[in-house]
Amino acid sequence: MAIVIGVDVGTSGTKAVAINERGTLIASALVEYPLLTPKPGWAEQDPAEWKSAALSALKQLAGSPGVNAADVKGIGLTGQMHGSVFLDANNNVLRNALLWCDNRTAPQCDAITRKIGERELIGMVCNPALTGFTAPKILWLRDNEPDLYEKVKKVLLPKDYIRWVLTGEYATDVADASGTLLFDVKNRTWHNELMSLLGIDASFMPRAFEGTEVTGTLSNEASAATGLPAGIPVIAGGGDQAAGGVGNGIVRKGVISSTVGTSGVVFAFADTVSLDPNGRVHTFCHSVPGKWHVMGVVLSAGGSLRWFRDALCPAEKAIAMEIGKDPYELITEAAEAVPPGAEGLTFLPYLSGERTPHKDPYAKGAFIGLSLKHTRAHMARAVLEGVAFAMRDSLEIMREMGVSITQVRASGGGARSPLWRQIQADVNKTPLVTTNIDEGPAYGAALLATVATGLYRSVEDACDAIIQVVDQCDPKSANGPIYDAWFKEYQEGYSALAPGFARAAKMV
Ligand code: XUL
Repeated sequence: MAIVIGVDVGTSGTKAVAINERGTLIASALVEYPLLTPKPGWAEQDPAEWKSAALSALKQLAGSPGVNAADVKGIGLTGQMHGSVFLDANNNVLRNALLWCDNRTAPQCDAITRKIGERELIGMVCNPALTGFTAPKILWLRDNEPDLYEKVKKVLLPKDYIRWVLTGEYATDVADASGTLLFDVKNRTWHNELMSLLGIDASFMPRAFEGTEVTGTLSNEASAATGLPAGIPVIAGGGDQAAGGVGNGIVRKGVISSTVGTSGVVFAFADTVSLDPNGRVHTFCHSVPGKWHVMGVVLSAGGSLRWFRDALCPAEKAIAMEIGKDPYELITEAAEAVPPGAEGLTFLPYLSGERTPHKDPYAKGAFIGLSLKHTRAHMARAVLEGVAFAMRDSLEIMREMGVSITQVRASGGGARSPLWRQIQADVNKTPLVTTNIDEGPAYGAALLATVATGLYRSVEDACDAIIQVVDQCDPKSANGPIYDAWFKEYQEGYSALAPGFARAAKMV
């Protein structure tokens, strides 16, 4: 039976999955690497780590039982969005890539907004200048490392660097390109006028393809490194959110997803370009050809719980190790015993600034309302609830925009916790369903490859044939009013603290 592969160049590691034409998972491999934070607010990775991880993950797949390399019909690519790989004329990587969660570019975002105007920018590329996006990273290099900037010939997104490694071609896809701030999202092509206004050379950017198009084939060199046959088509794929959207079956109006990974994303399909005039949610091209999507991004969702585990739960970690349990299970078990609202404790999850709804790189995390009666269990519950409130902010903006919401699908690591799913359902007062697919963006990239290689006629057909809802978590009506009240406090908490966050950022 035909096999396709999806590769996700993620933030904590690169994951590769092999599925057959019925969508059954045959094999998967994950190779991890570190996140570098050389200064507060900075987040970088070495593209050489992505390269060795991707080649090694593909090699593991090629050697897995059940994967006959000759049956592999295509490879779809996805990955963390917005990161900047700067290449010189000889395709050498000039410095570590700046990542989606890097906040150093606030001055460059201000400069872009002053020069173009926020409304005008949203009119041109559908989105405002945010620190995570690629264009301000390019300007940061020009402003701060001019000697390197002089040498730049190409700027590639993380998965597109891996595409170059696999095929020798410079290419991207329209969904990932949308997150550069240099892409004309309405017309699905590079925005040459904006690039010229910002003084960015249009030749830096690779050709952009629709998600199901073939961008090249596996080179002899990549074949030797992976054990997969040379000539396999490599498919455009999509940024991790769009590909993850496909993997969740978000390919028609009404069904939206709520994904809690390191970041948290509320993702909705759009038939036409749908904008928030204030730019609080992103409007990007979808990996479904000719379609768009709208998404709200919470920068530290699962990242907040990971921070809580690592910073405040050494005891739980030690016990978990001893009894062979996941520390998250111990933490959420304790949180479950605390009533909704955490007895007056609220958490702002803005540990790395925030995109939706605040567009504030200086926003910070906070526990509000601590008293002597609060325990670590209360804090754990407040973290879970704070992240759910942050996701509700996105959902409310989408409701304001008239986005139709008939079903919310939970995914990501956060969806594995029944308590976190229940909290989300209660906070949003909407049922939360889960599907049979739990492999994230890599799976979505593989589905795009099934379409590119002719196994399915369309992305919608592939999703209809493969993705099914398997579980539903209904909101508890008694909790709705409690969370409505605390959601208001949560929102007001940020408003009250925001001026202090901005002042503190200047002092540190
Ligand atoms: C999306 C975004 C993140 C990264 C994480 O805009 O910045 O979700 O793509 O991988």
